[in-house]
Amino acid sequence: MNTTNRVPLVPAARLTGKTIVLGVTGSIAAYKAASLARRLMTEGATVRVVMTHTAQRFVAPLTFEALTGHPVFTDLFESETGEVGVGGASAGPPPTKNVMPHLALADGADLIVIAPASAHCVAKLAHGLADDLLTTLVLAAECPVVVVPAMDGGMWTHPAVRANVRTLRQRGVTVLEPEVGPLASGRVGKGRFPEEDPILAAICGALCTKDFRGRRILITAGPTQEPLDPVRFLSNRSSGKMGWALSEAARDRGADVVLVAGPTSLAPVPNVTYVPVVTSEEMRKEVVTRFPGTDVLIMAAAVADFQPARQARGKVPKGRDVRMLALEPTKDILKELASRRAGQVVVGFAAETGDLVARARGKLLDKALDLIVANDVTEPGAGFGTDTNRATLLDRAGRCDALPLMSKHELAHRILDAVLTLP
Ligand code: PMT
Repeated sequence: MNTTNRVPLVPAARLTGKTIVLGVTGSIAAYKAASLARRLMTEGATVRVVMTHTAQRFVAPLTFEALTGHPVFTDLFESETGEVGVGGASAGPPPTKNVMPHLALADGADLIVIAPASAHCVAKLAHGLADDLLTTLVLAAECPVVVVPAMDGGMWTHPAVRANVRTLRQRGVTVLEPEVGPLASGRVGKGRFPEEDPILAAICGALCTKDFRGRRILITAGPTQEPLDPVRFLSNRSSGKMGWALSEAARDRGADVVLVAGPTSLAPVPNVTYVPVVTSEEMRKEVVTRFPGTDVLIMAAAVADFQPARQARGKVPKGRDVRMLALEPTKDILKELASRRAGQVVVGFAAETGDLVARARGKLLDKALDLIVANDVTEPGAGFGTDTNRATLLDRAGRCDALPLMSKHELAHRILDAVLTLP
């Protein structure tokens, strides 16, 4: 089957179909909100921007209008344009026409993100004040709210700000931590606007149903490296992307996630416990130690099946006769843990180059797994290094679900769905 034309040019966006209201307040970081608006749109969101009066002293509304293609809202008493709420909250009521902007925006929003949020804005939110469009909108909305504070000097650590942040968090608002670094005042401290990745992670997390809350998920990812000598090793082409996508999805659904990963170039996943390892034996030790305190184990790692029978202490010189390389099998981590499970769900992957379902079923039975995710790593857009994957899910009850090509992020959610519906 030719699947080449099914490979998307860009991975599926995480916010497709979502309407996000981006609130911008008066902070020197207001210009960074323009880039964030772009990023949210790249992820598939419709972005509606609300600016406070002080925000407009830092950036002009025109910037956001040009970027989002929608009018920017600045005034509580501005008349509704008829566009507000269009394509609104996926699960909410239909948008209402001819209402005050704060009500129309509140009805239409799947999520409100306030970025940057000044100390003044944080205080108003904590006290339920409603003296402008943005704060009134937050009071009127029923959707999740994400606050991204950015402030100068010692403001973030001021007891009043700490108390306000505590209040918001207790109320279920997601308040990100600012980053440490040089501030506009010239001081160095905590108050910088965070990178876009953690903001996006917080937004995806706030939008997800928390159906894994209270569950501990152990995920493996990436390749392992089996050293021949201090400078050479045996490995494979795993990038870690599949395991990273699983970690993000599980975290967003409320799980406590531990990610044990071989060497990759990916940045650690925010709010996930990251355990870097190199060899299959190191991965085995980490996973074995953590398994008893785990509810679900998902092994997406491409663990080496073989390791050199002996590792040279020094670099093997060029002239040495090494036409024969003695190898020995590594320990099968998944099989070992499945055999000593005490109520844990155990999920494996099968990387195949043909006869996909039969071979994967063989591994499911041989390793006594609950679920196996079979991928043909020779298919375009699937397997190693890609942002997409095409997999067949097989479970111990004999169910077999051949999924279409999709982003690894989407597949991660499908795998978690399958875990929840295991018989
Ligand atoms: O990392 P990416 O670039 O995103 O690529 C994703 C992937 C192709 C690596 C992933 O989708 C995948 O298929 N992972 C499993 C790779 C693999 O090792 O498959 P396998 O069929 O050889 O092993 C079967 C299962 O046993 C796997 O869950 C593996 O983690 C586990 N195993 C294998 C060997 C071993 N010594 N111990 C193990 O636990």
